[in-house]
Amino acid sequence: MADELAPEVKKTERWGSRVGVILAVAGSAVGLGNFLRFPGVASQHGGGAFMIPYFLALVLLGIPICWAEWSMGRYGGKKGLHSSPAILGVIGRGRWARYLGAIGILIPLVVFFYYSLIESWCLRYVWLYIKGGMDLGADAGQFVAHSGDVFSKVAASDANGLFRGESLSASGFWVAVFIMNMWLVYRGLTGGIGKFCEWAMPAMALCAVIVLARVLTLGSPPAAAGRSVADGLGFMWNPRWEYLAQPETWLAAAGQIFFSLSVGFGVIINYASYLRRKEDVALSGLTASATNELFEVGLGGMITIPAAFLFFGALVAGQSTFGLGFNTLPVVFEYMGPAGRFIGATWFFMLFLAAITSSISMLQPVKAFVEEALGVTKGA
Ligand code: ALA
Repeated sequence: MADELAPEVKKTERWGSRVGVILAVAGSAVGLGNFLRFPGVASQHGGGAFMIPYFLALVLLGIPICWAEWSMGRYGGKKGLHSSPAILGVIGRGRWARYLGAIGILIPLVVFFYYSLIESWCLRYVWLYIKGGMDLGADAGQFVAHSGDVFSKVAASDANGLFRGESLSASGFWVAVFIMNMWLVYRGLTGGIGKFCEWAMPAMALCAVIVLARVLTLGSPPAAAGRSVADGLGFMWNPRWEYLAQPETWLAAAGQIFFSLSVGFGVIINYASYLRRKEDVALSGLTASATNELFEVGLGGMITIPAAFLFFGALVAGQSTFGLGFNTLPVVFEYMGPAGRFIGATWFFMLFLAAITSSISMLQPVKAFVEEALGVTKGA
């Protein structure tokens, strides 16, 4: 295969295998957007009806743009280029195209810092569940003890996610997460990102299936007698057609597709620039997108809202997606008794994996850009 490469790019990094690159791109796409953002956006914009603009946006915008990025990335890679400013500069033949490409460095950088913070929350939650010190405070305790609906207090307990007695400063976790991201990207495409995604993606799927299985078998909680998980699924998925007449629904669907597939971020261009010359970008792009949809609709769309609705009813409407994931679900896990500790740790470990497989993909374009700027790409 190496013989197929142009002499000047012989020494640049390449993906080790097709499965590796597909899992890395899917890892970039599957993130908090799938498990937290999607259920919130879909339930707020018509439930099942939202899936019409959503799939139209997927087919008419998401997949074509993703294919364009895969193709541009592979083209740039043949010339030994890996950052979106350099690749767009060559394709657009000019300064303005290069400036436009800078978006492909800035967006990933912002998302990287945001995601690394959330990763540190997730790791901290996992740690708290493992050591058994998750303190939900008296309000949540009261709810679990069936003495009434305290949702508004629970939801408001800490907008940032951790309950009383815990501070979000959690700087130790953030430093650990930051080093982990740097290390994986430093280890390179095959030894770092590829290898990590090859086990992280199946592990994430397994964790999601475990949590989903538990959520779907939850009985009616005493404080909300009469409500079943089927009602929660209905709240999430029953189509409310009138939302299709609202332009915001269509905008929200397009926004979700862009965010979820990581298109227009500069990430796919960068990842595709390490493909081998004859790689089939159409099939690889489609496989990575389909994997993302499976995680988003098949798993993400079935967990947070149905579980939260079962306990809190229609009060979950309008609750922030982060609030649902970080404040509301821990109350649901508390209700599960001792097994809730395991389910809680599994849920937050899954969110951690979802976030870190995305954040390393945000760091790699920045690394490529810095290497190109410093002229150290060759021989990497
Ligand atoms: N595509 C990533 C996500 O969904 C950014 O979280």
